[in-house]
Amino acid sequence: MLPKSKLRVRKSSAYIRAKGEPEMKPMPLTRRDLLLKCAAMGSLTLAPSLSLAEPLRWWEEQESGTRKPTPRNELGPFYKSRAPLDPHLRAPGDPGLPLAVSGLVFSTNGAALPHSKVEIWQADHLGQYDLKGYRYRATITADDSGKYWFDTVMPGHYPGRVGQHIHYVVTAPGHKPLTTQLYFATDPAFEGDPDRNYSRDPLLHSRELIKPVTIAGDPKEIHALVNFEIVLEQL
Ligand SMILES: [Fe+2]
Repeated sequence: MLPKSKLRVRKSSAYIRAKGEPEMKPMPLTRRDLLLKCAAMGSLTLAPSLSLAEPLRWWEEQESGTRKPTPRNELGPFYKSRAPLDPHLRAPGDPGLPLAVSGLVFSTNGAALPHSKVEIWQADHLGQYDLKGYRYRATITADDSGKYWFDTVMPGHYPGRVGQHIHYVVTAPGHKPLTTQLYFATDPAFEGDPDRNYSRDPLLHSRELIKPVTIAGDPKEIHALVNFEIVLEQL
């Protein structure tokens, strides 16, 4: 506890101003400032899979009513058009960790985009693409609420690429087509710290494309769940 005299000095020094100058009122904290302060003070605890950037972005988007476009990423050499319309990419008995991916497709103005076209393709659990056929490739149409989903397996690593990933091309009327890739926070390449290690993949320029993975099920039927929301820029 400080002596009263020191308390007076501190209080008065905070309000010193030149004669005639308007009284300075403390600026209210923005929500962003508040969240940063809470994180710094230890009042906010994040799930291990979340970086501070994610709730910050979410908070800012809620305030503004707009959404930041999903970062773009390379198309890569293995795209094939006219993939099957079946969201069940994983056949019964397929090796690898079963993975269910879902999300909503939005416009940057915050509106969901029903019936958007989501083309996805990926390597199998050993890191091999099917170049002759359409295994682990699909063209999915988002539903009336803009939601899409597909069942697959966790893609493997392959020579020339550091991170496990799923390729996306997403299109909707009135919006710029988006080419991007989904990455996984559990990828051994990131050694449990995607914030620090995401740049180990030279093709991955944005931490935002790495999503948390939830493991669900029971010991006999373990599967992974990932949510990946897509935001398209308006034309
Ligand atoms: Fe790839």
